[in-house]
Amino acid sequence: MIDKSSIGLLNGNFAKPMLAPVRVLNLYASLGGNRYKWDEVANIEVTAVELDPEIAKLYQLRYPNDTVIVGDAHKYLQENYERFDFIWASPPCPTHSKLQLAWKNMERRNFYMPYPDLKLYEEIIFLQHYFEGKYCVENVIPFYEPLIPAKKRGRHLYWTNFNLPNSLNERKSPKDFAKGNIESLSKFHDYDFRQYKGKQRLDVVAKDLVDYEAGKTIFATAMGIILKSNVKQNSLFGNEW
Ligand SMILES: C[S@@+](CC[C@H](N)C(=O)[O-])C[C@H]1O[C@@H](n2cnc3c(N)ncnc32)[C@H](O)[C@@H]1O
Repeated sequence: MIDKSSIGLLNGNFAKPMLAPVRVLNLYASLGGNRYKWDEVANIEVTAVELDPEIAKLYQLRYPNDTVIVGDAHKYLQENYERFDFIWASPPCPTHSKLQLAWKNMERRNFYMPYPDLKLYEEIIFLQHYFEGKYCVENVIPFYEPLIPAKKRGRHLYWTNFNLPNSLNERKSPKDFAKGNIESLSKFHDYDFRQYKGKQRLDVVAKDLVDYEAGKTIFATAMGIILKSNVKQNSLFGNEW
């Protein structure tokens, strides 16, 4: 016998489909810039993974209904991907960023140039080949030719297994974005970054967030695809709605 509850269909009288919450994994969650408008799109159940315990604490306050894991997103993805319908990953971008090139010729540099962190590509390949839901991996435009072709929108690259609209409805960043002005970034993201008392630089934390309108557009696009395929599944049961 088929367990219809497993596809979240029924509300008792068969009159209307009631979809189960979409299970979302938000990796490298930071303060959930990308996630801010997702509740407007679908009924969701979000698990967020963030390594910095102070950021994770603030994320939990901002999104009390989400499950927050303090830990390594790379490992969490490998061990848990099958439990989700949609996965968003924003691995750290500094080792890929064009800003690295500015350090290259600095005379007084007292560190070695870092290797680009190829976990970014490990995750993309992993998702491409093993994950059956929809995914979005987001990063900066790197200083080298991306190893896997991506979709470029604004200042970012996106690796997705669904089409992205040409416009993500991104808002214009504040004029003083590069300077990391906390007041204007707080206004832009509708979040008071001064609450953060952790170890990372406050301006870096505040500049890390994805524009919530872009996050919403991408999520809605992916959900359109997920919901359509759910409807297809529903019709297998011959119910009419
Ligand atoms: C670019 S930000 C993510 C921005 C987020 N998508 C948003 O829109 O708000 C990257 C975040 O990953 C966190 N991070 C770095 N390494 C991590 C790891 N191994 N596992 C989980 N989180 C990590 C950082 O603390 C930082 O908050």
